[in-house]
Amino acid sequence: MTMNRPILAANWKMNNGPTSAREFMKSFLDQYPRQNDRTVLFFPPAISLTTMAAAIADRRDIMLGVQNVYWKDQGAFTGELSVGMARDAGARVVLVGHSERRHVFGETDEETALKCAAVERGGLTPLLCVGELLDQREAGNAESVVVQQLRAGFSQMTQLATRDVLVAYEPVWAIGTGKTATPEDATAMHSVIRKELSALCGDRGRITPILYGGSVTSANAQTLLGAPQVDGLLVGGASLDAGSWLAVARA
Ligand code: PGA
Repeated sequence: MTMNRPILAANWKMNNGPTSAREFMKSFLDQYPRQNDRTVLFFPPAISLTTMAAAIADRRDIMLGVQNVYWKDQGAFTGELSVGMARDAGARVVLVGHSERRHVFGETDEETALKCAAVERGGLTPLLCVGELLDQREAGNAESVVVQQLRAGFSQMTQLATRDVLVAYEPVWAIGTGKTATPEDATAMHSVIRKELSALCGDRGRITPILYGGSVTSANAQTLLGAPQVDGLLVGGASLDAGSWLAVARA
């Protein structure tokens, strides 16, 4: 899977069903001709994936992912989605351990590990999200929380030295709050993550893309992308409007 950097990723969360996804993509694609110096990645609700795949057609600079999967291949798991199904519908990447999965739905480190391993087995790429809560940062534990989430999330993958993975640093206190980490804070934590990735993935850890997320807007995207060690952005709110997302995608 070839991804050019920066990687600009839109996490639509529970927004944009098939009809609005189609309308969004029409407006976005009309104004966003192929770019070879970056990759745009959309995480729509799974029910909109096939609509998105049809809209994107042969655009290699735009890729799709899902926001969550279950780790079993198939069976009696009402409401869940397997990696194979996501791949079949056009997904190449799977978000794992997003803070809303962890803190709204109670997903544990053990579950993120099972999900990352399932994504690897299924031939897709995990985008593991890590990030500390405000009280963890204030207590001086931000780095240890993030390192623990990284180690745990990748603990059951067996091909880390040879396979693509992606990481997003999303401080929980910055998600949907209008508070962004400073570029310096982002660089500092990305450097910690980079070091840990080198330990986990060997040489490949040096080139693993590390995205920043948390209240990214068209106004701060450029500055955050310019920060050392920031290889891309994971964007929620500002990805929901085609105009503001265009501005971020062009940053
Ligand atoms: P936000 O969300 O951009 O709305 O803060 C980011 C995310 O949850 O990935």
